[in-house]
Amino acid sequence: MNFDLKTLELTAAASEKCDLLVVLIPEGFKPGADALSALAALALKNGDLSAKAGKHLQLYQAPAVAARRLVLVGAGDGSARSVRQAVLAVGGAIKAPQTKRVVVCFAGAVKAGAVCAVVQAVAEASYVYTTTKSKVEARSLNRCVVGVPNAAEAREGFDSGVALVAGVEFAREWGNRPANHATPTLLANAAKTLAKLPRIQCKVLGPAEVARLKMGAFLAVARGSEEPLRFIELRYNGATKDQAPVVLVGKGITFDTGGISIKPAPEMDEMKFDMCGAASVLGVFRALGELQPAINVVGLIPACENMPDGRAVKPGDVVTSMSGQTIEILNTDAEGRLVLCDALTYATRFKPAAVVDIATLTGACVIALGGVRSGLFANNDALASALQTAGDVAQDLCWRMPLDDDYADGLKSNFADMGNVAGRAGGSITAAKFLQKFVGDMPWAHLDIAGTAWKGGAAKGSTGRPVGLLVQYLHDQSKAKAKAAAPRVAAKPAAKRAPRAKAV
Ligand code: BES
Ligand code: MN
Ligand code: ZN
Repeated sequence: MNFDLKTLELTAAASEKCDLLVVLIPEGFKPGADALSALAALALKNGDLSAKAGKHLQLYQAPAVAARRLVLVGAGDGSARSVRQAVLAVGGAIKAPQTKRVVVCFAGAVKAGAVCAVVQAVAEASYVYTTTKSKVEARSLNRCVVGVPNAAEAREGFDSGVALVAGVEFAREWGNRPANHATPTLLANAAKTLAKLPRIQCKVLGPAEVARLKMGAFLAVARGSEEPLRFIELRYNGATKDQAPVVLVGKGITFDTGGISIKPAPEMDEMKFDMCGAASVLGVFRALGELQPAINVVGLIPACENMPDGRAVKPGDVVTSMSGQTIEILNTDAEGRLVLCDALTYATRFKPAAVVDIATLTGACVIALGGVRSGLFANNDALASALQTAGDVAQDLCWRMPLDDDYADGLKSNFADMGNVAGRAGGSITAAKFLQKFVGDMPWAHLDIAGTAWKGGAAKGSTGRPVGLLVQYLHDQSKAKAKAAAPRVAAKPAAKRAPRAKAV
């Protein structure tokens, strides 16, 4: 889908030829002398429209309006959050098969982040999954024009919106693919396609190399599957080599049956989403390829299936992780932490500025925070607050959870350095405490996205979260670095400006 940004007063918006014109009406809307203003003002006066975010009124072939359909929609205070709510409220009209061209126009000043939010919300509303359907009913929307009072001022937000959409949709696509269409090998191939983007490299390790690295915990999870594991390493080089990278580690369980500690049948299909952490890392790299920020990023993905089998790891088995620490695998369904712990040990070799792992790790996190906020755990307050802020700005929320050492008590084992599960109580926290045993003193954060990465029920599907949060965080970090360097040296791009990314 193509996005365009245009300077568009309401007078000009009325003559835009399109299938659907969406006009965002903020609180305190000041009508001009044009036809659209008159319509909106009258509707507001008669109480047929409200400026509250999401309240809307549809009109057909309105006089003096070139668009076939017109929706006036309340945009509340005009914040990113409110315009997102407004666009999603008219999502049905945007997604309708007869809507090929949409114009979304601001009927007032544009607040920070609002244009970026509109681009993302239009994409979110019109997204359709097609890959494994034989009757292809593709996304009907093919062009979206965002109209603002001053296009030059809105350009930066617009461009980041478009880059984010590419990243979020890449993550949604891989999240949604069934496990037989998203094996570890296919996931690795998807990562390799990202290396076509400027400044991105990709390396993929197979079982033999992973065995040589002594990733005993990761190998134990993969044992029960016919599908060979893959360890994916992505690099984005946006800054000089001496700059410590941010390392992102994504849980890539392409299907989680639970293994020998097998899961109950109902809703087990949703465990194809157990690689959404990995998908979010791929999505972030897709967006980085567009945005080209001045920062170094490493992406690590341990990818495998968790299956029951004659060769599968058994409850009580003890394995040696890459760190040398031994683990008693008391429950084979607590596999995410096993693949992540070896990836976290691997991450230490990059001497990272920060490590963030992203994982659909625990059902307990779904109970704690539901689908609104991802769980955030961190051993470093500055990192925690940077991530929380990034989530707020990107409207991709998270919430910090505790990491008191007392929570690790239940991980004690009589037969190994630790068990892989504690009791049911505080399950998302004890999982985080397990991971913390592998990060040493690196600044580390863990995002438990079990509740936010996908939706169940009729709207079943991947959300692409937390690509928005992570890209915002990386963008903020690159800006902060540039600012810190500014007083000493004149602002100069750290690496040669790469050509603009081509879509993959
Ligand atoms: N992938 C699951 C976590 C999960 C479950 C996410 C349901 C979303 C919905 C993870 O591998 C798992 O099975 N975790 C167990 C841990 C337990 C055995 C300590 C869980 O949460 O039940
Ligand atoms: Mn599991
Ligand atoms: Zn899992």
